This record gives sequence, C-alpha cells and structure tokens, in this order.
Amino acid sequence: MELHPSSIVIAGGGSTYTPEIILMLLDNLDRFPIRQIKLYDNDPTRQKLVADACEIIVRERAPHIAFCATEDPETAFTDVDFCMAHIRSGKYEMRDRDEKIPLAHGLVGQETCGVGGMAYGLRSIPDVIELIDFMERWSPDCWMLNYSNPAAIVAEAVRKVRPNSKVLNICDMPIDIMERMAKIVGLQSRKDLVVRYYGLNHFGWWSDVRDQEGNDLMPRLKEYVSKNGYNLEPLGCEPRLNDEDWLKTYRFAREVFACDPTVLPTTYFKYYFFPDHVVEESDPKYTRVDMVRDIREKEVFSECRRIASAGTSEGTTLKIGVHASFIVDLACAIAYNTHERMLLIVPNNGAVSNLPETAMVEIPCIVGSNGPEPLSIGEIPWFQKGLIEQQLAAEKLVVEAYFERSYHKLLQAFILSKTMKDASVARAVLDDLIEANKDYWPDFK
Ligand code: NAD
Ligand code: G6P
Ligand code: MN
Repeated sequence: MELHPSSIVIAGGGSTYTPEIILMLLDNLDRFPIRQIKLYDNDPTRQKLVADACEIIVRERAPHIAFCATEDPETAFTDVDFCMAHIRSGKYEMRDRDEKIPLAHGLVGQETCGVGGMAYGLRSIPDVIELIDFMERWSPDCWMLNYSNPAAIVAEAVRKVRPNSKVLNICDMPIDIMERMAKIVGLQSRKDLVVRYYGLNHFGWWSDVRDQEGNDLMPRLKEYVSKNGYNLEPLGCEPRLNDEDWLKTYRFAREVFACDPTVLPTTYFKYYFFPDHVVEESDPKYTRVDMVRDIREKEVFSECRRIASAGTSEGTTLKIGVHASFIVDLACAIAYNTHERMLLIVPNNGAVSNLPETAMVEIPCIVGSNGPEPLSIGEIPWFQKGLIEQQLAAEKLVVEAYFERSYHKLLQAFILSKTMKDASVARAVLDDLIEANKDYWPDFK
C-alpha cells in the first residue's frame, strides 16, 4: 500500500515533550511518512529554544520534511492532517499556584487531581477550544490528538461544546504502567499485552491483563504489585531512576492496590485514597513543579541549547519514551486504518453499562480511519462505580461552572472532590484560587 505522507502541527511547541515526539516521528517514517512538521506556541521565546534544536534534528535525519515554528495560528493550522496538542495554559508559573495554594489549606496540590487540577482545567478549557477552532477553520479534515491536561476536564468540555469535532483525548499513564507490567511478567513491551481497563482519566483500573496467547497475567502482576507497586528497581530496569518522586509514586501503588486487590489501579488514586499522607510528605515550598523544572525542563532545555549551539544533534542525550510512541501509534492507526486496540478517553455511550452515557470514560477502543470504536466493558463493581460517580460529578460541575460562570457550581465541584475536607475549606481555597487565576478565569458569579 502506498502511504500518503502527513503534515503535522505540534501545539505547545515549547513543551518539554516536543523533542521526544519529533524524534519518535523521525524514527517511524517507514510506517508513518511525513512531509511537514510545524511547531505552534503562544510563547515564541520558549518555543524558539525547542524549535532551534528540532530544526537541526529534522534537517539532519529527514531533510525532505519541511519544518517551521510559528506563533501565527493561520500559518500553523493551514494544510495539516494532525494536530498533536500538549499545551499548558498558564505554564509552570500557574502550575506552581495549583500546587501550593491547596497545600496552604492542608489539601492535595496536584497538576490534575483535586482542586489544583480543577483550577488548571478552568484555564485549559478555553485554550483547547481555541485550538480546535483554529484547526477546524484552516484544516477541517485534521484530527487533534490531545495530551493537554487535565485530560478528564478538557475531554468533558470538548464533549459538551464541540461534540462532533475530530478530537481524541489521551493519557500516557496507563501505557506507562502497561510497559511496566510487560517488564514484570518478562515480556518485551506493552504491545504484548491485551487488557480490559476502565475508569475516568487518572482514575482507572485494569480488570484483566493477558498475553497475546490469552494467558491470564493478573496473578503474577498482583503478586509483584502487592510487594513493589509498579517500581521496577527490584528487576533492575527502572527507567525513571533520576526522579525519586515518581519512584515514590510507583512504590506507593502497593498501598493503593491493597484497597481493592481484585483489580490493578493507576497510581493517581494515591491522591484520593491517602490525601493526608500526600499532604504530610509534601514540602509547601518545593512541590512537584519545582522538581519538574529542576529535572525534566533542565535536562531537555539544556540539551536543546547544546544542540543549537553545536549545530548538530550528534550524540544527543534526548530520549524517546512511551509518551511519544503512543501518540505516533494513534496517528498511524487513524492515517492507515490499522485497527489497533488503544486506551482512549471517549463518551461512554453504554460501554460501561452502569455509568452515565455522557461520562467521558477511559477504555479500550479499536482505532481506524473513522476514529475510535469503544469496546463494551459491562457492569463495574460498587466500589469503582461509587468513586467514579463522585469524581465524574465534580468534573462535570467544573465544566458547567465554566460555561455558566457559576461560583456555586464550582464550589460544589470543590466540595465533591474526594481530596476535600470541609465545605468551609473548599470556599477558602476557591477564593484564593480565584484571586490567583484572575488573568485566566472568567468572572464567577
Ligand atoms: P510545558 O509548559 O513545558 O509546555 C507547554 C507549552 O504550551 C509551553 O511552551 C506554553 O508556552 C504553551 N502554551 C500554553 N498555552 C498555550 C496556548 N493557548 N496556545 C499555544 N501554546 C500554549 O509543559 P509540559 O510539562 O511539557 O506539558 C505539556 C502539556 O502536556 C501539559 O498540559 C501536561 O499536563 C501535558 N501532558 C499530558 C500527559 C497525558 O498523559 N495526557 C502526559 C504528559 C504531559
Ligand atoms: C503522567 C500523566 C500526565 C502528567 C505527567 C505529569 O505522565 O499521565 O498526565 O502530565 O505524568 O508528570 P510531571 O512529571 O510533570 O509531574
Ligand atoms: Mn495523563
């Protein structure tokens, strides 16, 4: 079959994840040919740092690919087949507020969970909708593959106001854990696994994991996770050795698993089941965003600067991980109708039979050029159903609050979060977050 080369825009070109996505794209040109890559960002200074290195990488490895970086939406979104989006509205400066303000009230302060995640959601909604509108105006056939967080709230907002748009919301957490599962049972990669998985984004469980022959891998996985969580240090192949905070989270999955040993959880339940522990071990002056800036941003940006000043990417330390492989697989599935089975965030529409039709659920889908066909999950147990419904109501209320400018709906969302202690705390932290976000949020009445 002759493959038609794609044109791609990466929105959030200045992201720390852009170089690895470009490297991954360049590594896969035989199965996913490309004619053009554009970077788009509303912060040209940040983007230039990444773009200068990426331009050299593209020129060295695939000079036939046209490359540009722009802050002009028309230039960026004209003549593109895929928009790979990973914007961070408010950048790390506002992530800092999302983490530290809740913590000052004794609450979990996290990028996507709890009230910090909701605060981020209220900034992301208009910015992601703006990207969709740019895409539909200048390249109406384009698909958006969206990593921009908080994915659950963004997906719900898109479902509500752009239900027919070609947008797929995705997360790399389940595939990161599946890569770990493969290592635990001695298989090559996540692609050797066939899974049943359900939940909301950053709020899901595996109910079944098998190899390609159909052998049940759950007993071996449960045994490992009950001792080590998803930390791979005992196997000598832990890929995140430079990030003690993630190692702690992977180890802690052991405690999360112990809350319901019938299924395998994602790591994010740590924030909902053990908020006091999380707050206790947090340093209110040095939160996750400070670590990200000291680890990922420093590593990626200093390497980009090095490449730009050397004029070559020879000997680069930039690495490709599952994050990039997943988005490239997804683009490939759509471009070439591969019918690969992938976990996506899609409208429930009965797939989980005892959850609302309008929930945006994370479940396995078969992906082809018409988009995703979700698989049926059936009924889920009371524990998961109860947790999901509470979280879903909170996420839906954030989105309704945004579009209705409703202070009370937002307050209700805060009260509903499992990370919340008391309605008076909810009100106090909300008022602080309103003040901190006054350049981003609408006026809530
Ligand atoms: P980053 O701050 O390094 O990069 C984000 C870029 O987006 C910045 O250069 C910023 O200037 C740009 N930006 C912000 N608002 C914009 C807008 N309205 N239009 C265009 N560009 C805009 O952030 P990062 O740490 O690299 O993460 C990027 C995003 O990817 C975040 O939303 C993060 O949460 C998300 N992410 C999601 C997953 C997932 O599983 N879904 C995984 C990893 C990262
Ligand atoms: C995982 C999640 C992402 C999240 C990222 C945050 O990959 O799936 O949604 O953005 O972790 O990691 P960080 O290192 O920025 O805290
Ligand atoms: Mn995620």
